[in-house]
Formats: sequence, C-alpha cells, structure tokens
Amino acid sequence: MIDRSKLAESGSPEELLVHRLDLTRLPRHVAVIMDGNGRWAEQRGLPRVEGHRSGVESVRETVEMSARLELEALTLYAFSVENWKRPRFEVWTLMNLIKDYVRKELQSLVDNQIRLHLLGRWRELDPSVVQVLERAVDATREGRGLQLNIALNYSGRAEIVDACRNIVRDWAAGERVDIDEETLGRHLYTAGLPDPDLLIRTSGEMRISNFLLWQIAYSEIWITDTLWPDFRRGELFRALLDYQGRERRYGGLVEQMSSSEEEEALATPRRHRG
Ligand code: FPP
Repeated sequence: MIDRSKLAESGSPEELLVHRLDLTRLPRHVAVIMDGNGRWAEQRGLPRVEGHRSGVESVRETVEMSARLELEALTLYAFSVENWKRPRFEVWTLMNLIKDYVRKELQSLVDNQIRLHLLGRWRELDPSVVQVLERAVDATREGRGLQLNIALNYSGRAEIVDACRNIVRDWAAGERVDIDEETLGRHLYTAGLPDPDLLIRTSGEMRISNFLLWQIAYSEIWITDTLWPDFRRGELFRALLDYQGRERRYGGLVEQMSSSEEEEALATPRRHRG
C-alpha cells in the first residue's frame, strides 16, 4: 500500500499534486527522454558537463519516486548512438557519471527490489564501463519491483535491426519462426516488458530522437519546458496527472460514449490538457 503522505516531502505546490493522483490508475511503464542538461549549465555560465552532473540527481529522484509509486517499469534515455558526435570530454564525463551512478546506487537498487536492464549496444562501450554494468545487471537479477531500463549506446532503428538479425539467426539455427509483431516484440531489447504508457520529454523539444520507435506506437506523450536537471518529483506528478486526464483509444472509440461525448471526441481526436 503506497503511503501518499510520504511522497510529498517539501510540501511545495507541485509536490502536493500527488494528492490528486489516482494511485490505482498509474501508467505501468514510463519512458523519459532526459533533455536540456547542456542548456541548464549554459544558463548558469557553467560547463555543459555540470548539467549532466546535476541531471544525475534528477535520475536518482525519478527512479526512487517511480519505485515508491510501484510503477512496473521506468526507461531512461541516457546515451544515444548519435551522442558519440559530442566532444570527447563530454562523452567521457557521461560514461563516468553513469558508471558512478550504477556503482553508488547498486545496494539501494538491490534493497528496493529494483532490477536493472540495459537497452542498446552497451557491450560496445569501454570495458571498464561494461564491467560495472554487467555486475549491476547480475546483482539486481532477482528484483521483482521496478524494472529500471537505462538506454545506453541506444538507437531505436538499430534495435529493430538487431531484432531482425536475431530472428534470422534463430531461423538459421532451425527454429520455427513466424514473422509477426509478437515475434519482433520478443526480440527487442525490451522483451518481456509492457510498452510505455507514457513518454516524457524534457526541455520542450518536439522530437522522438530515435527512442523506442516500435514500443511507443500507442504511448501518450508529455513534453515539458523544464530542463532535465530541474525535473524533480513534483514535475513527475504533473506528468502523471496529465496522463490520467487522457483518454486512451488505441485507434478505436472510447467505450460507452454518450452521443454528445462522441461528437466531442470526433471534433477533438486527442484530448490534451495541460
Ligand atoms: C541530453 O541533454 C542529455 C544527455 C545526452 C545525457 C543524459 C544523461 C544524464 C542525465 C546523466 C547520467 C545518466 C544516468 C542514467 C545516471 P543535452 O546535453 O542534449 O542538453 P541540451 O539539449 O540542452 O544541449
């Protein structure tokens, strides 16, 4: 049973939004494009990497709150294949921040039943990073609570290519293979997890950036101008509240609509509040 009163620690107006959340209708899976670290730092006259450093705090808080809200899965976009184009020092800092986060948080992940999964071609990273990540994936294997996915050296298109390659490999090994959505889904990095119900993007950009291209087919999308280092629990509550105000129709019609509601739904195909 979630103790709601313990979720709003500072009592700020944003945090108090938690009292308006219907805790029985939370999304099962939330995915986040964490954007705006560089701009956050530039606005303060700091080097870009300071934005990433501060962004780790937002990661910590979002993971902790997702676990306390008993979400099933949280997926964070930490490093894309395109991010290699950044200056070497920025890439190096990001890798170290990720490594340090995993190392420092490992015991807390285990204690809180959080299981770590990595999405992407993360085994191609520096061996010192791979070693820390492998150890953490192994140590959290028994976690039955929040499934924490960190997308690292990730590309949505590469994920679909990798899935196709694995399907062909199975077929070449003599397995019976049906090419359908279920088979493809089973070969994605996210196999076994529900698709994201809610995709959050910070810093106001209206892009998907090659993230979970297959899995977000029916996800609700919430974009905030808040930069990732400023994204804290209150902002997560705001996203969840907005999600709860949406009607999910999966291309169909809402059940049991009155004729006036149906007219409204046809006039406004997707309700977006906030
Ligand atoms: C985008 O901001 C953010 C990233 C490329 C990296 C995200 C990484 C972290 C938050 C830190 C480490 C992660 C974990 C999981 C511990 P940007 O640099 O593109 O910002 P900008 O658009 O303002 O330049």
